[in-house]
Amino acid sequence: MLTGKRILLMIGDAPGASAAPEAIRHLRAAGAEVIPFPLPGALVYVTPAALAERAARAVVEGPQGVDADLTLGFAVGPALADLAPERGPRLIVGAPGSDLPELADLAELCIAALAADEGPLAGRHVLVTSGPTHEPIDPVRYIANRSSGAQGTAIARALVAQGAQVTFVTGPAAVPPPTGVRLVRVETAIQMRDAVEAALPADAAVFAAAVADWRVAQAATSKMKKDGSGRLPQLSFTENPDILAAVAQRSVGRPRLVIGFAAETDDVLAHATAKRLRKGCDWIVANDVSPGTGIMGGRENAVTLITAAGAETWPRMGKDQVAERLATRIAEALR
Ligand code: CTP
Repeated sequence: MLTGKRILLMIGDAPGASAAPEAIRHLRAAGAEVIPFPLPGALVYVTPAALAERAARAVVEGPQGVDADLTLGFAVGPALADLAPERGPRLIVGAPGSDLPELADLAELCIAALAADEGPLAGRHVLVTSGPTHEPIDPVRYIANRSSGAQGTAIARALVAQGAQVTFVTGPAAVPPPTGVRLVRVETAIQMRDAVEAALPADAAVFAAAVADWRVAQAATSKMKKDGSGRLPQLSFTENPDILAAVAQRSVGRPRLVIGFAAETDDVLAHATAKRLRKGCDWIVANDVSPGTGIMGGRENAVTLITAAGAETWPRMGKDQVAERLATRIAEALR
């Protein structure tokens, strides 16, 4: 997290300044040391004593001599940017009307800003797809795969934490999207494909989305009604484009590393190994999603990483840990 990092928190002349003590609490909870630097105008909203108490240190009166890893301009006015010290990465966050969710994101924003400067994926663009797609039947009904988006979201977050610039293309997921990514929200597989194409080029692409394999050939434009006759609707389907295969098989503009997922219920290794070759991707992250495993919608995952060199089974661990390990492997592969 932010352990061992020193953050100069500049507090400007804006109503959001009153939330500065709460921001300090979040940053310290993430392990950072916070050096509060209130500008005179901030003192209308917050007292030096309140800042000092939360920071467990005295406030400073200027950035001179402060050796910070990160300068965070909070409740920013133009003057803040001019006052920030030259040394260390800067992150100027405008939070004039801060509410608590924004503040909770602060620690993550800081981690991302630090990582973007010094993480192993700094300067790399990684594309991640996540969540299910919704394929309309009519304006009120859809078909979809079961997917919370938790694993894809964790992967994007881990990539950001290692300094990558991440484009996150997500279907309607059950979990909130990560911070610090370029977020593209889509509904259908076709929209996801278009968003992926538009996001290229990328150094690596991770396809964690549970894309619906089929869509209704002709979605109704008005709600289908029961007409009392007892006749059931007949749906006919057409196949969705395979987004992963299309990117993996590009002759021009293929990311150096293309990673797919294989959620299987039987013969996991055999199916996933065949899927890697069929789709033309470099790696497959395979998992067993049989109902008994509790993986679908759960916090943990048990995966096997399949590469050209063979299969590597990872112990069952939290989805966050799977994500971190995968991000580390991606950083090594792109080095
Ligand atoms: N995928 C994709 N576009 C699709 C279908 C799947 O990009 N239209 C990607 C998924 O994001 C995942 C991988 O392909 O990374 C594997 O998806 P999966 O549904 O397991 O593969 P299928 O091709 O549907 O194979 P099958 O249904 O036969 O298991």
